[in-house]
Amino acid sequence: MRAVVLRRHGPPEVLRVGDVPLPEPGDGQVAVRVETVGLNYAEVLSRRGQYGWSPRLPYVLGMEAAGRIEALGPNVTSRSVGERVVVGSKFGAYAERIVVPQAGAMPAPEDYSAEELAAFPVNYMTAWVALMEMARLRPSDRVIVTAAAGGVGTAAVQIASRFGCEVLGLAGSDEKLSRVRDLGATDTVNYREPGFAQRLEEVVGNRGVDVVLETVGGEVYRRCFDALAPFGRVVVVGYASMNLVKWNPITWWRTWRDAPRADIQKLAVASAGVLAAHLGYLLADEARLLRVQRDLVEFVRSHGIRPVVGSTFPFDDVAEAHRFMESRQSVGKIVLKM
Ligand SMILES: NC(=O)c1ccc[n+]([C@@H]2O[C@H](COP(=O)([O-])OP(=O)(O)OC[C@H]3O[C@@H](n4cnc5c(N)ncnc54)[C@H](OP(=O)(O)O)[C@@H]3O)[C@@H](O)[C@H]2O)c1
Repeated sequence: MRAVVLRRHGPPEVLRVGDVPLPEPGDGQVAVRVETVGLNYAEVLSRRGQYGWSPRLPYVLGMEAAGRIEALGPNVTSRSVGERVVVGSKFGAYAERIVVPQAGAMPAPEDYSAEELAAFPVNYMTAWVALMEMARLRPSDRVIVTAAAGGVGTAAVQIASRFGCEVLGLAGSDEKLSRVRDLGATDTVNYREPGFAQRLEEVVGNRGVDVVLETVGGEVYRRCFDALAPFGRVVVVGYASMNLVKWNPITWWRTWRDAPRADIQKLAVASAGVLAAHLGYLLADEARLLRVQRDLVEFVRSHGIRPVVGSTFPFDDVAEAHRFMESRQSVGKIVLKM
């Protein structure tokens, strides 16, 4: 089958489509014929060699896909051949077929297109776990979402605003901010404009915010922390501004300086919390994974939420798709189509 095997770390050009043996499902596993693949920032970091959760090289890149089940391994009880599913996995999605445990293939919301399905699992589950499982969101909460026009960001804006929260969206361009308002944010701030800190203070006002979903790091993280009201909490799920270059010690220093961190003394003074979440742990906890899938699918269905697919690339243009994600031009999800 055709797949993108990551053999060495480097720029987008290291991504090439080649031939690999067709994987067969083992005990409790299903094989899914992939139609669309969702791109994640974590795969950009994996390609660069900056993602701690990656397997050892070489491996097939990719954490999510959508398609139909075409084969079952022994002891599969909850899935059937022909079923349309979305798949979340640690690796293996940039391929014509992916094999996952049955719980890793969730029934697809029926009315989503193939592109929308690929945009669903990682972004929506990350936003859901961060907001609902960790921040324990309440409808009365006021919420900041950073990189709000991105994949996780658009999902978080939709979920929090439909849940009843007032949402402030932060992003890196005015065009992105306008999309974020369309999705339900009541106010927005561009953090790449001079005077960002002052504008954020104005928008936040004296009341402060109760929850921050943070994916950027550096100045953005620090200012959002300062915006917390007492009993507020930041959930860190990413650090997209990190730009670590192995041979450049200045970038090590910047990476250390800008990494989100928490100081208990400061938390005590502010009466606030800093949490960090990684979706990967859900894959190791089947009962929780199934509950999160069920709650999330029910929520998006009942609120008529559809994933934002910003751009679609042919599978062969995977390197171009990575370049586009790194350019910070993308809105919502980037999808690869077989
Ligand atoms: N913890 C988890 O389980 C988990 C799961 C999924 C994703 N994540 C994290 O969530 C974040 C969003 O992921 P995503 O896949 O949805 O990506 P994305 O938001 O579609 O793209 C990343 C965005 O980060 C922003 N950004 C800020 N500083 C940047 C910089 N220096 N270089 C590049 N981009 C920068 C850009 O938006 P602006 O131009 O608007 O700033 C960019 O569009 C990432 O940090 C990712 O690692 C974590």
